[in-house]
Amino acid sequence: MNRFWETAILPVLEAAQPEVLAEIGSREGRLSAQLLGFCAQRGGVVHVIDPAPSFDVSAWEAEHGERLMFHRCLSLEAIPQLPVPDVLFVDGDHNWYTVFNELKAVEDRAREAEVPYPLTFFHDIHWPYGRRDLYYDPSTVPTEHRQEYARQGILPGRRELVKEGGLNGHLDNAIVEAGPHNGVLTGIEDFIDQSSDSFELVQVTGLHGLGVLASTQRLEQDRALRESVDRLRNADFLADQLRLVEGHRVQDVIRRSDQRRRLDAARRELAEAEKELARFRSRKLWQWGYRAARAGFRVVPGKEATGDPTEAIAARLRRASEKLGG
Ligand SMILES: C[S@@+](CC[C@H](N)C(=O)[O-])C[C@H]1O[C@@H](n2cnc3c(N)ncnc32)[C@H](O)[C@@H]1O
Repeated sequence: MNRFWETAILPVLEAAQPEVLAEIGSREGRLSAQLLGFCAQRGGVVHVIDPAPSFDVSAWEAEHGERLMFHRCLSLEAIPQLPVPDVLFVDGDHNWYTVFNELKAVEDRAREAEVPYPLTFFHDIHWPYGRRDLYYDPSTVPTEHRQEYARQGILPGRRELVKEGGLNGHLDNAIVEAGPHNGVLTGIEDFIDQSSDSFELVQVTGLHGLGVLASTQRLEQDRALRESVDRLRNADFLADQLRLVEGHRVQDVIRRSDQRRRLDAARRELAEAEKELARFRSRKLWQWGYRAARAGFRVVPGKEATGDPTEAIAARLRRASEKLGG
């Protein structure tokens, strides 16, 4: 989500002028850091919800003071306890049940507080999780709302998972893509359909898709916000977005070519190590020693066996492993 900061998120935040922000799913805190930076300049508080963040929360709390309110729990536990944010970021558990119920819980809180539904950003509204559930922890989703899932990879254009390769094979992914109650975008659409309020959902393509959900009432009341949301559909913005996606694609091409170069160098070292080993094994002395040892004789190195001949092979193997970055 943080990769959309400059092009999409910041311009909308500047128009929305939020005082209370909430983020569901922070992981390393990349977006959280951007939100905290934003609030440091303009004021405001950021509520961050994540049961398993991978940054040092205490250090961040010490640094940001009351600007950061961290909630180490599931979103559905936290939302009923929180104030209604002006802007919400949803990037936690990417499945229908969690997303649909997060939005419902926020709607309930907004109704109680008699405030409009918060402007909401979502990540991963497109492939692979727009129409396919992912469960960070399947036990947090009731069985009747869970798709059949497996730790297998995902390929574009393929409904079923694949046993070899594919994306995110280490995660619990729904076995079949699409259909009812499956995926992040389906959860958002179902929320909009069941709500008595009216919403606009802008979908930004690229980097797994960004969604921006705004209540029509709020858009009608706030001209600056209306313009900032409409901008996400115009040609200049889409050109910026294309540049952003192309930048990431080029980085990936460079990373791949770097990996290929290191792999080739490692392969060359391995080939040399194999030759070295073959030379070593072809030595008469080694063959005699080997046969003698197998026959149960004690083999004692003679005067000529000064260095360890396996050292050259070990050095080659070490170099191969360094080339691989291991
Ligand atoms: C995709 S990462 C978030 C990335 C982050 N928003 C960013 O832009 O860098 C998903 C995070 O959601 C958290 N998570 C999973 N299930 C959650 C839930 N039910 N409520 C809140 N967070 C959840 C995970 O622990 C993980 O850190």
